[in-house]
Amino acid sequence: MKGDGRCLKLFLALSILFLQNVKGGSHSHSLRDAKVTVRCIERERQALLAFKRGLGDELNQFSLWGSESQKQDCCRWEGVYCSNQTGHVIQLDLGDLFFQGKMISPKLIELQHLQYLDLAFIDFNGSQIPDFIGSLTNLRNLSLYYCNLVGQIPSSFGNLTQLQHLDLSNNQLQAENLNCLPALSSLTYLDLNGANLSTVFDWPEAVLNKRPKLIS
Ligand SMILES: *[C@@H]1O[C@H](CO)[C@@H](O)[C@H](O)[C@H]1NC(C)=O
Ligand SMILES: *[C@@H]1O[C@H](CO)[C@@H](O)[C@H](O)[C@H]1NC(C)=O
Ligand SMILES: *[C@@H]1O[C@H](CO)[C@@H](O)[C@H](O)[C@H]1NC(C)=O
Ligand SMILES: *[C@@H]1O[C@H](CO)[C@@H](O)[C@H](O)[C@H]1NC(C)=O
Ligand SMILES: *[C@@H]1O[C@H](CO)[C@@H](O)[C@H](O)[C@H]1NC(C)=O
Repeated sequence: MKGDGRCLKLFLALSILFLQNVKGGSHSHSLRDAKVTVRCIERERQALLAFKRGLGDELNQFSLWGSESQKQDCCRWEGVYCSNQTGHVIQLDLGDLFFQGKMISPKLIELQHLQYLDLAFIDFNGSQIPDFIGSLTNLRNLSLYYCNLVGQIPSSFGNLTQLQHLDLSNNQLQAENLNCLPALSSLTYLDLNGANLSTVFDWPEAVLNKRPKLIS
């Protein structure tokens, strides 16, 4: 009887040890998994949150974007795509959401690896296209279609030498000249429909001769 009791105690002690090990093991395992799956880069997450604040978000369409712990991984946010290799945000696709915004936040400049930016149908309330867009030099596709943007097309666009697809149509934009266009040597699609080009008297030859596919 007495021996059985000792045996039981020993068994219980061993069981507890075993359970603690299993628990500890699975705990560190889930931590490791979390590290592997959260690809989002903190600076870029902050930039996206600043961009979201600049939109106003009255309709709260971005409820899936957040700073709460279960929403840390901005690579999983709606419309946000990261590189599988580097974790950098390479695509921001918010076109066709149709809502009232305020401005394009300058924090967007942090997304230096962005290749694709589609903000079509976001109403930026008659603000200007910020100059800094021209420093997102990895951009290949840029759509600001129907964004209620006014003013000049920034000459900094001449820095977007990788740009293939550029749609600035259906805003109230103006261009004094199109001097930046020849620098856009990768461009295969250009839509400036609705822009006031009446003061452009010096059409770059590159536009007139070499790019029959361009729409304007
Ligand atoms: C990146 O990974 C996701 C999820 O595993 C996959 O759906 C997607 O196709 C991958 N993209 C590239 C460019 O490999
Ligand atoms: C839009 O611009 C107008 C005039 O500049 C301003 O009064 C209004 O507050 C702005 N709306 C938003 C949502 O920022
Ligand atoms: C564009 O490039 C020029 C010359 O490389 C540079 O001086 C200018 O600051 C750049 N503009 C932007 C908006 O990055
Ligand atoms: C980006 O632009 C290119 C050139 O116009 C086009 O072929 C491609 O489909 C666009 N990519 C996306 C994801 O829309
Ligand atoms: C286009 O811009 C010119 C020069 O600023 C201006 O005189 C003209 O009224 C504008 N046209 C339209 C349709 O806004």
